[in-house]
Amino acid sequence: MSANANANDTGFSHEKIETNNFLMIVLILVVVAIGGLVEIVPLFFQKSTTEPVTGVKPYTALQLAGRDVYLREGCYNCHSQMIRPFRAETMRYGHYSVAGEYVYDHPFQWGSKRTGPDLHRVGGKYSDEWHRIHLVNPRDVVPESNMPAYPWLEKAQVPATEMAARMKALRVAGVPYTDAEIAKAAADVQGKTEMDALVAYLQGMGRALK
Ligand code: HEC
Repeated sequence: MSANANANDTGFSHEKIETNNFLMIVLILVVVAIGGLVEIVPLFFQKSTTEPVTGVKPYTALQLAGRDVYLREGCYNCHSQMIRPFRAETMRYGHYSVAGEYVYDHPFQWGSKRTGPDLHRVGGKYSDEWHRIHLVNPRDVVPESNMPAYPWLEKAQVPATEMAARMKALRVAGVPYTDAEIAKAAADVQGKTEMDALVAYLQGMGRALK
């Protein structure tokens, strides 16, 4: 009997596995496969992995147009949309961000750079008028600001006829827009400027969990 044989002598020796590469590999694969199935199979029976937080609604056509401006202008290069669950963050910005608030964001605008403050709960913090002045020239309301000015947004029109197609595309990604909402998208944003759209987007941000 070898020195490290099973003390209880049940007939099973771990040494057999540890000294047999092939057996070891097969058993590792079996264990990993079971672990994988336990994690993956339940996902097929769930409607969504993340339920929307109560009060979170899909973006209106106008807000969606504003979000497109936000992406085009690269606001995410200086602003995050992700409040972390730390005291210093929640005291400054409000409730930390939760997954269910982002269900209609394709793609997310979490960001990783904060030259400016986090914007996830900026909705309702200022008046529409404040945002307009700030976006045309940030120095007019925050003298020390190094945020760029975006004066052209006041003159550019929202591409009204494109909104329906964008909403349809988002519907494929799981945003529950109704046919009626899509049908009146163009009328909803008719005559609006990119400034109107961006302000509407900013004012809607993070309000469900305020
Ligand atoms: C170069 C970096 C930079 C870019 C790009 C930038 N910002 Fe800012 N932003 C800042 C800084 C810095 C501040 C803080 C000073 C101030 O309020 O102007 C700020 C402040 C803000 C605030 C006020 C936030 C608060 O809680 O007081 C809003 C809203 C905002 N930015 C929106 C935008 C939008 C929308 C865009 C894109 C059109 C944008 N920013 C692009 C740097 C930037």
